[in-house]
Amino acid sequence: MARNLFSSPRPTVDREALIADFMQIRGMTERLCGPLAVDDFMLQAMPDVSPTKWHLAHVSWFFETFLLKRLLPGYRALNEEYEYLFNSYYNSVGPQYFRPDRGLLSRPTVAEVFAYRSHVDEAVRTLIRVAGEDDLEEIDTIVTLGVNHEQQHQELIVTDIKYNLSVNPLRPAYHHVLPPRGAAAPPLRWLEFEGGLASIGHDGAGFAFDNEWPRHRTFLQPYRLGSRLVTNGEYMEFIGAGGYQDWRFWLSEGWKNVQTHRWSSPLYWERRDGTWCSQTLAGLQKVDEHGPVSHVSYYEADAYARWAGLRLPTEEEWEHAAEFHRHRGCLLERGIYHPLPAPGQETGLEQMIGDLWEWTRSPYGPYPGFRPLQGDLGEYNGKFMVNQMVLRGGSCATPTSHIRITYRNFFPPDARWQFSGIRLAEDI
Ligand SMILES: [Fe+2]
Repeated sequence: MARNLFSSPRPTVDREALIADFMQIRGMTERLCGPLAVDDFMLQAMPDVSPTKWHLAHVSWFFETFLLKRLLPGYRALNEEYEYLFNSYYNSVGPQYFRPDRGLLSRPTVAEVFAYRSHVDEAVRTLIRVAGEDDLEEIDTIVTLGVNHEQQHQELIVTDIKYNLSVNPLRPAYHHVLPPRGAAAPPLRWLEFEGGLASIGHDGAGFAFDNEWPRHRTFLQPYRLGSRLVTNGEYMEFIGAGGYQDWRFWLSEGWKNVQTHRWSSPLYWERRDGTWCSQTLAGLQKVDEHGPVSHVSYYEADAYARWAGLRLPTEEEWEHAAEFHRHRGCLLERGIYHPLPAPGQETGLEQMIGDLWEWTRSPYGPYPGFRPLQGDLGEYNGKFMVNQMVLRGGSCATPTSHIRITYRNFFPPDARWQFSGIRLAEDI
């Protein structure tokens, strides 16, 4: 099935190294749950987010469905009904439990979900150890996809628990790690790119999702990119200038959202005694003017850029620039889960990797020559290629080993609960 995941031949599979990689990722997922109270695991404060408990089970379901049930002879599922409960969207596997009701699943309990994880972990280790040489390449391919899938859910565990805790008037903290303050954001500089013929997409060395293929040529007009992300302080100027009250800056659909949902600031922002505060994973905190503005929708990012007389980059412009500028900001392993101010120590582009996903003006669609993975896993990415915008670069909740410059994330233009921010662009 997922044989096309790697386009170049892979070296011989080292069984123990594969087990170590698998267990390292599985362990990281569980460490992210360390600060949670048992009461937190079931929260689903809106249909777009999932309860932590569901994420923990679903990523195990992925290994069970696509790996163990197919390749481990005699594998016994812990509970056959989990196939329905924890199937996210794979019609080829079968029907799925109604997504907006995931928060109603008081059973299996949290303890039972952790037992399910252990059951799957044990079976995956056994499979890797006992598999014949003929199956090993396919097992390696699916385990690698499965750990990358689990890393995507690690990020979702963080973004979803942030939202789930934010609706509580007590504004509970997930942890007590305060983002460092006091660093002033450097002035915005502009970096110019000649454009011309550029190669975009993954080259086949190492893992990539199918939506990053094939590498292909594209023509870029000359452009410039802002050296860092737009800051909270700059975004406050947009708010102060009446940006949310002036239809002229907004796409029609965006203006509809502003009016329907009464948007007047980024998600999580609120005024306390005349000061902007926002919910963070360390609870309610004063907004740092030097930090990058986050939790804005595509519509807000686009409106800000219009107000500034500029625009958002295309995904091709972003990737071409990232070939030369790979500065890394805050990623998941820092354990802060909050974007940090640009350091101002670089002469190039800062915060390209990490801190915040950057909205691009590119709709999410197939690259020329795109073919989804064969078999059930063809449902992984391709069927979502409509009505969403591409984001690039990863965030403070993205695992370091998960992000690369060809990585294409995608969300609907009104989504605000991801760690999403703004980098400006301009035609030359
Ligand atoms: Fe998933």
